[in-house]
Amino acid sequence: MNHKVITIDGPSGVGKGTIAIMIAEELGYNYLDSGSLYRSLALKLYEKNNNFDEVLKNLDYWISDIAIDFRYKDGQKAQIFVNNEDFTDKIRTEKVAILASNIAKDPIARDMLEKYQRKYLSAPGLVADGRDMGTKVFSDANTKFYLTASIEKRAERRLNQLKDQGISANLPALIQKLLLRDKADTERLISPLIPAKDAIIIDTSDIDASEVFNRTINIIRDNLKNI
Ligand code: C5P
Repeated sequence: MNHKVITIDGPSGVGKGTIAIMIAEELGYNYLDSGSLYRSLALKLYEKNNNFDEVLKNLDYWISDIAIDFRYKDGQKAQIFVNNEDFTDKIRTEKVAILASNIAKDPIARDMLEKYQRKYLSAPGLVADGRDMGTKVFSDANTKFYLTASIEKRAERRLNQLKDQGISANLPALIQKLLLRDKADTERLISPLIPAKDAIIIDTSDIDASEVFNRTINIIRDNLKNI
């Protein structure tokens, strides 16, 4: 078992990122937003060639000169760079999320990004959020959570996040996009979005972030006591 890894998986809009950051700050652990890697790779590929059928046929070639890295500045969220270009803000749209979901079904892309994700496992510990953190990438994690919520609540949260980032969207269209992405993520053959067998499932529809944080941190502290 990997004693110092906490995984938080689930679909978009359940509050994974918020909770993962709160836990990471509380424990002084590193934080990995694995979705931002999928988004960055997908957007870079799209900029190179927007015909994804063609790209996916020869992905080894298209990804060969792509390098992604996170850079931290004191007290700020990580910035993400692709071949030294700042991608932090431009990966946040739903269009990029859907591109990411297309790329995420390919084993070559997943292998590439899994290597990046493992690099984040360093002292004192890691909180990783995504779709397959607990089932695949850190399957030996100490504590695994799987967050869910109703589609209406998830879409509302995504809408607010997008608004905060200055991106306009409307609720019915967003619901359709999230459902499309859920379908692609849960039905893909490799690393589909499902709770790990040993994950603790929390429905966040009717509880706020501080309540989810309290529940999760108590469980984590109990588990850390036992190691
Ligand atoms: O978490 P986020 O919404 O940024 O993820 C964007 C997309 O990247 C997801 O819909 C999913 O297709 C893919 N993804 C994945 N595995 C992860 C994280 C994200 O397949 N661990």
